[in-house]
Amino acid sequence: MSGEIIVNANQYDAIEGIEFIYPSGAERILARPFAERYTLEKVVGSLNGQSLLDLACGHGEYTRFFRDLGASELVGVDISEKLLSVAKQIELTSDKSDEITPITYLLHNAAEMPKIGNFDVVAATHLLHYAENIDELNKMCLGMSNNIKSGGKLYVLGANPEYNPRGPVLDKYGYRMHIPPHVKDGQEIFLEVKLDEPILIQGYHWSAETREKLLREAGFTNIQWHHMQVSPEGLAKYGEAFWQEYLSNPHDVLMSADRI
Ligand SMILES: C[S@@+](CC[C@H](N)C(=O)[O-])C[C@H]1O[C@@H](n2cnc3c(N)ncnc32)[C@H](O)[C@@H]1O
Repeated sequence: MSGEIIVNANQYDAIEGIEFIYPSGAERILARPFAERYTLEKVVGSLNGQSLLDLACGHGEYTRFFRDLGASELVGVDISEKLLSVAKQIELTSDKSDEITPITYLLHNAAEMPKIGNFDVVAATHLLHYAENIDELNKMCLGMSNNIKSGGKLYVLGANPEYNPRGPVLDKYGYRMHIPPHVKDGQEIFLEVKLDEPILIQGYHWSAETREKLLREAGFTNIQWHHMQVSPEGLAKYGEAFWQEYLSNPHDVLMSADRI
């Protein structure tokens, strides 16, 4: 590993300038606009008239994306004051017309999430790998469950438990996964974000079975896994061959579930 900045869930705020480094870099990671956003859009579809809670919203990039999909009430929650301040600043300087739904940003640890509403939809992008142990993972699942109304929808985008550490590697798409072979639940993993100064995000592996079990126990059903897809724009811009390695071994995966 060659990253110069190492970050875990609680360390974002300790990094000098993270409020500039992460948001500016995120836009340049090809897998985000061309695969993550596209897959979310295909699976989530229209959010017209729905309330949405975005857990681990960071600087609000995906919270604003969910607004673009039509959500009519939006709350973003994160543990990082610095990234929330970027999100709030973007809100302050963005279009104020009456048609634009405002986003409320709140500081909370998703593993100690109080009930703040009965949302139609709860989303969590790049959150679950921050759970340091099974108890914390369980509390995150319960926090999501407590904030969704019965019949509501959950979308969780995050580390692909089936990622093959032998490759292909994903550097050209903006990420490199550092995962030991035969990785077990709770074992340390790193996601390297390929910025000018690479960021090494420390996390923990949670298998598909463990995530599903905890979600079911927390009150979810109809759990589905959605493989990453690449948008027509991404295919046109870089060519189909360019995306083959990513699609054969994507770093993340989208999960959806229904609240009983
Ligand atoms: C890699 S960023 C992703 C941000 C956003 N979801 C996105 O994809 O643009 C991970 C975010 O998770 C937040 N985070 C980590 N652990 C958290 C926790 N326990 N509760 C709430 N937020 C957390 C970090 O502060 C950071 O903003």
